[in-house]
Amino acid sequence: MDREEILNKVPIFAGLNRKHLKRLSNLMVPRSFKAGEAIVHEKDRPAGFFVITSGKVEVVRSAGSDRPQVLATLGEGEFFGEMALFEGQARSATVRALEDTDCLAMTGWDFRAELSTDAEIAIAVLETVVRRLRELEARLPE
Ligand code: CMP
Repeated sequence: MDREEILNKVPIFAGLNRKHLKRLSNLMVPRSFKAGEAIVHEKDRPAGFFVITSGKVEVVRSAGSDRPQVLATLGEGEFFGEMALFEGQARSATVRALEDTDCLAMTGWDFRAELSTDAEIAIAVLETVVRRLRELEARLPE
């Protein structure tokens, strides 16, 4: 499968035309990670936005401590790395590959530019972020 076909299957990019998919695929760089490898580290300065094209990752807070908390598990077609880019802050959590994982990565600059030029992508990212917040809330004690 070429990069455009892969992007075409990513929910936040659903509905983009061929030309747009091609432009996006030119902005994104393939990155591969081994099982167990940290892709982003909590508290690091952000560098990019990642879409998982195969494999699985876990999002962990306080990964190095004696009380790590797994916030979520993400798989093919899902994304991560948007929070620190939106906020201009450090990474909120560590994201670690649970199995060998392939991603397409975009710089923070390109991510912001895409969201400002395409409201559909921006809304799809927001919908996912809101869903993740609800999922986290549902796990809080009463
Ligand atoms: P960022 O803070 O840049 O880096 C860590 C990423 O983990 C974060 O962006 C989100 O993409 C992701 N993340 C953080 N908290 C959650 C959560 N509760 N559910 C799913 N993904 C999360």
